[in-house]
Amino acid sequence: MVKPYLFVTRKLPEEIIRPFRRHFDIQMWPYEEKPINRETLEKEARRADAILTMLSDQVDRSLLGQAENLKIIANLAVGYDNIDLSAARDRGITVSNTPDVLTETTADLTFALLMATARRIVEADSFIKKGQWNNWAPFLMAGTDVHHKTLGIVGMGRIGEAVARRARGFSMDVLYHNRTRHLQAEESLGVQYAEFEFLLEQADYVVCLAPLTEETKHMFGEKAFSRMKKSAFFINASRGKNVDEQALYQALIREEIAGAGLDVFEDEPIDSSHPLLTLQQVTCLPHIGSATIETRKRMIELCLENIALVLSGKKAKTFVI
Ligand code: GLV
Ligand code: GLV
Repeated sequence: MVKPYLFVTRKLPEEIIRPFRRHFDIQMWPYEEKPINRETLEKEARRADAILTMLSDQVDRSLLGQAENLKIIANLAVGYDNIDLSAARDRGITVSNTPDVLTETTADLTFALLMATARRIVEADSFIKKGQWNNWAPFLMAGTDVHHKTLGIVGMGRIGEAVARRARGFSMDVLYHNRTRHLQAEESLGVQYAEFEFLLEQADYVVCLAPLTEETKHMFGEKAFSRMKKSAFFINASRGKNVDEQALYQALIREEIAGAGLDVFEDEPIDSSHPLLTLQQVTCLPHIGSATIETRKRMIELCLENIALVLSGKKAKTFVI
């Protein structure tokens, strides 16, 4: 019997892949850091029964139009804005993602980014390493308190709830804004629903965890930042395109907000000459929300399980469509 053909768009650890080689003919793009080129992606999509994709791969209608045999796209991310869902639906292709396994890990990173930004951790570290620490001083690297402040979570999914749980440990008041209310979270976590504008006006830390959709694109623009307190921080661990970076830069240099922590950018990787990178009140990370060894391994395994289920005629464990 011919084994189904699975193509993986990035080099992943062989020890995770190996057990699945018994069931599938598996090929991988041979580079760990270099993304696949369009030509190879098209060629492989034409042949594959399943593809395991990265969030940096654009899986659009023109690609799927050529994918005669494709039954599942397993995206190695909880987000799936890189995939044209309607094109996949038209062709009856399953799209799966990796929720749950990355929730706590991503919440850890989101909270770490918030704290690092508030307490100037990265700036203070490079201050020492550059040999600038000559004297102790009362306000040396003085930051802003986190405990007992108001946290505003925009996008109250699983990760938002996990961030809210962490915030409780810091005695924070938590507001959230979401398309739909989460009465259960309101009860169990003591979080309060707020309209977007009200949340922006009240929060000391505004954390964006909303998926990227037509509705959320650039939801953080000039108007949103102008509503925020001058002392407030903006943290983004969702998708860069939820933010108008030009407006964020202007809000920061005009001191309309105090600082920002960004794990994601409008264009990734961000150009090293981007003006946001010149600001000391901005902490930047290279989209590493779920990047721990344990969680990345679980995410890859979940993709492979989903592929195995769909190719044996079953429903994926965590499918989007
Ligand atoms: C990462 O950004 C993800 O969507 O999992
Ligand atoms: C998004 O899907 C989340 O888990 O927060």
